[in-house]
Amino acid sequence: MQATRRLVLGLGLALLATQAGAAEIRPWMDPKLDPDERARLVEREMTLDERIGLLHGVMAFPFLGPLPPEARGSAGYIPGIPRLGVPALQESDASLGLTNPLEIRKGEGGTPMPSGLALAATFDPDAAYQGGRMIGHEAWSAGFNVLLGGGVNLTREPRGGRSFEYLGEDPLLAGTLAGEAVRGTQSQHVISTVKHFVLNSQETLRHALSANIPLSALRESDLLAFELAIERGEPGAVMCSYNRINGDFACDNDRLLNGVLKGDWGYRGWVMSDWGAVPGLQAAVHGLDQQSGQQLDKAVYFGAPLKAAVEGGTIPPERVSDMTRRILRSMFAVGVVENPPQRGPVDYDADAAIAQRAAEEGIVLLKNQEGLLPLASKGRRVVLIGGFSDVGVLSGGGSSQVIPPGAVMRVPVAGEGELPGPFRSMVFHLSSPLKALRAAAPGDQVSFFPGEYPAAAAAAAHDADVAIVFATQWTTEGADVPDLTLPNGQDQLIAAVAAANPNTIVVLETGGPVLMPWLGQVKAVIEAWYPGVRGGEALARILTGQVNPSGHLPITFPAGESQLPQPVLPGTGRTAEEAPGYDVAEGAEAGYRWYARQGLEPLFPFGHGLSYTSFGFASLAVKAGDGLELSFDVTNTGSRPGMEVPQAYLVSAAGKPVLRLIGFARISLSPGETRRVTMTADPRLLGRYDEGRHGWWIEPGVYRVAVGASSKALAMQGDARLKGGQVPGKGRRPAAARSTHG
Ligand code: BGC
Repeated sequence: MQATRRLVLGLGLALLATQAGAAEIRPWMDPKLDPDERARLVEREMTLDERIGLLHGVMAFPFLGPLPPEARGSAGYIPGIPRLGVPALQESDASLGLTNPLEIRKGEGGTPMPSGLALAATFDPDAAYQGGRMIGHEAWSAGFNVLLGGGVNLTREPRGGRSFEYLGEDPLLAGTLAGEAVRGTQSQHVISTVKHFVLNSQETLRHALSANIPLSALRESDLLAFELAIERGEPGAVMCSYNRINGDFACDNDRLLNGVLKGDWGYRGWVMSDWGAVPGLQAAVHGLDQQSGQQLDKAVYFGAPLKAAVEGGTIPPERVSDMTRRILRSMFAVGVVENPPQRGPVDYDADAAIAQRAAEEGIVLLKNQEGLLPLASKGRRVVLIGGFSDVGVLSGGGSSQVIPPGAVMRVPVAGEGELPGPFRSMVFHLSSPLKALRAAAPGDQVSFFPGEYPAAAAAAAHDADVAIVFATQWTTEGADVPDLTLPNGQDQLIAAVAAANPNTIVVLETGGPVLMPWLGQVKAVIEAWYPGVRGGEALARILTGQVNPSGHLPITFPAGESQLPQPVLPGTGRTAEEAPGYDVAEGAEAGYRWYARQGLEPLFPFGHGLSYTSFGFASLAVKAGDGLELSFDVTNTGSRPGMEVPQAYLVSAAGKPVLRLIGFARISLSPGETRRVTMTADPRLLGRYDEGRHGWWIEPGVYRVAVGASSKALAMQGDARLKGGQVPGKGRRPAAARSTHG
């Protein structure tokens, strides 16, 4: 007995000694050291092969080639280095939720958030944080430590197939929300990315077209969105895009990767390529750190060719060390090493509630004539028409597609396409607006009519007190829509229903803006975007007034394609050789700024969104500070509790007319309640980027600010004089713009 105890004690001490020894020989495992130091210490121990091993990885789909058993099966896998305690990178797409393409991991799911535009329409940094956190936790519980989430491309092109994944057309809004989503994900010890760096505004010829723009204009628009997102969220990785900018591929762009991202902004994480976006080995010298989805490129440039280049002296070993350290640094900074993913159960109900909240805040009431909405439960006959609204709500296609197993209906897209699986069928989440509305309005008789034939739908509408048409526009990665017209004759359907029933409401489930030739004939319009896993419930609560709508448009709805900076989508009907590039006509003035500059009247302006109550704005005070400091009162002047999104715009800068969102907030008010809102505008939003002088400059003079409920509904104005000069920090500032809740 005594002997056994001594043996156990001895073994225990030996184990402790081994662990202590391990800590001594593995000093990078000390979490008290800073991530740069830890990365430096471990990288020093690596062989060249081990370094190179971290710099390229496969698309981890079993049918593309054999995978090591530990690879979870997902967009990407990069083996670790067990002898040094460096874990493998298990990467999954996750812009809108944890994906499981082609159900590689049998039976596994994820919670689909509403689309990016819906999230942006919340103007709510907390909704973005909670969504990012939820996705991060689901990923961690499924064995992932890197998420390819966070599309922050400005939606310059409303026909863009991926506009639904992004966060709208304004750099402050998109940058703030993307940064919060990243923070949320990384709070779960899962590395997050921002993508696609940069100016990847459309899908047409996405692998070839060059978007040509002066660098200063890029700094003030798309790059500013990335800059704000990176400052706020500190993502472990940045994904460069497919397209070219001013001639150079985004992943092979010395000026943007080495110059702006790593140089001016001092970004310390790593740059990973998009899948199949590496044009050659020289990209390593031009700032790319890791080749992802290597089977999709012409060669595994960052494998044997990179090794040969280092050994042959054409690429300095120091560059390979830097690439390696950047990856390791992010692993340590986000806590991937100390907190490895652990497979475990997920509370999908709690996660769906996070998605539902975002949908309820992001659904936008565009029109509500004669207060037709909310539907009061008065024993009325309500007919839902079209859009598969008996079954569920639409989602967008492509690599961001989230498919909870057994909880979707797939509708094949007509026509032959080259794109496989998630790119070729419309996916409806089984959150039925019909069922949800029946539950939310028990006093009404709610029925459904499919709506294939306008005449039959009109007859059904005629027999009802209220007709709600659900109109859909499916969009997907890999293809833009040719125009902004609702597909499949839905305009005729809506017009026929509206002619038959004066109480017609249209619910839009669209990837982005659409034209509404029937707008004058219908009483109410709701933009529901792709509303996610509980979109049906969110819509029913909004239609019945259990939730007061509070979403505001993060993107302008044009009155016609002729208003767009590119009336014809660049590259339409051309080959890559025929259409090498296009000039970004609007330059820095993307979205609503373009409409303001051109004096165009859109169908619905940026920032627009109605409520079942009303709000008043008063007592604006504007003060010059580091940037501009504003405060003002918002009052709920109606009879229902509600949330308002007050927006502050710069309307003139040193005497010159401009229009720029410089602050926003989301506040909840009871009837009659007033709250004071304060905001600090980031100086970069007031100035201009001067490429020649390499920095942000503010011209001295008077700066006028207007505050209101949209970019066109500006209730009051105020001025402050700024003394001007260079914005400190040379393009890199420690604090992102913050809008404080009042
Ligand atoms: C997309 C990326 C995605 C990657 C991996 C690419 O086609 O552009 O957004 O992360 O595939 O699935």
